[in-house]
Amino acid sequence: MFNLILFGPPGSGKGTQSENIVKTYQLEHISTGDLLRDEVSRHTPLGVEAKKYMDQGLLVPDEVVIGMISSKIDERPEARGFIFDGFPRTKAQAEALDKLLEFKNTQIHLVLSLEVPAEELMKRLINRGTTSGRSDDNEEVIGKRVKEYQTKTEPVATYYNHHGKLERVKGDNTIEDTFKILSKHIDKYLLPA
Ligand code: AP5
Ligand code: MG
Repeated sequence: MFNLILFGPPGSGKGTQSENIVKTYQLEHISTGDLLRDEVSRHTPLGVEAKKYMDQGLLVPDEVVIGMISSKIDERPEARGFIFDGFPRTKAQAEALDKLLEFKNTQIHLVLSLEVPAEELMKRLINRGTTSGRSDDNEEVIGKRVKEYQTKTEPVATYYNHHGKLERVKGDNTIEDTFKILSKHIDKYLLPA
């Protein structure tokens, strides 16, 4: 099994690159943002609770997302591996993920961090907001998401760097060129399916 975290700020291209990686390497995609938006659209109790945070650009409490991840991993016992997109976002989530995977006799093998300048992130997300229908793609909320990222999520990169698993990748090339760079890193662990 090969487990990858695609890491980076809002708008860095985690979702975009996940699509290509999933197709090429046949990994199971777990995006906590997508899972939460699905709960919100179905008006589940979890979705109603999560929406309060998401609309403000704040992180949803750790217990909520950790529980969601655990059941998603359990649903796919035959997986070739997982790609985690938008998770973990706090040190507590990273520690919980390590424990979950250890329990399943596996681990995180690689963390690829997409590095994109702040002005480019804002441009991409404002642009996406014109069609995405996402309640958090407007200038005010994007600013808050970036702040949450800087204060709560960036320490996760340090955590994985200490474990020798972090690779920083320039994320402001074209989508295709960024994918090529990411693939070179992944190929060291797993060849395309
Ligand atoms: P989430 O859905 O994870 O959003 P995010 O991290 O803010 O990231 P985005 O999805 O906005 O960006 P992305 O990196 O996926 O970029 P994309 O590929 O779309 O989280 C939303 C909310 O849910 C959070 O604020 C929080 O409330 C909650 N949440 C989720 N997970 C949580 C967790 N673990 N813990 C607590 N709360 C959690 O690309 C962006 C745009 O740029 C697109 O339009 C794309 O077409 C374009 N683009 C991509 N790459 C390029 C390129 N190379 N060149 C030009 N344009 C590009
Ligand atoms: Mg995304």
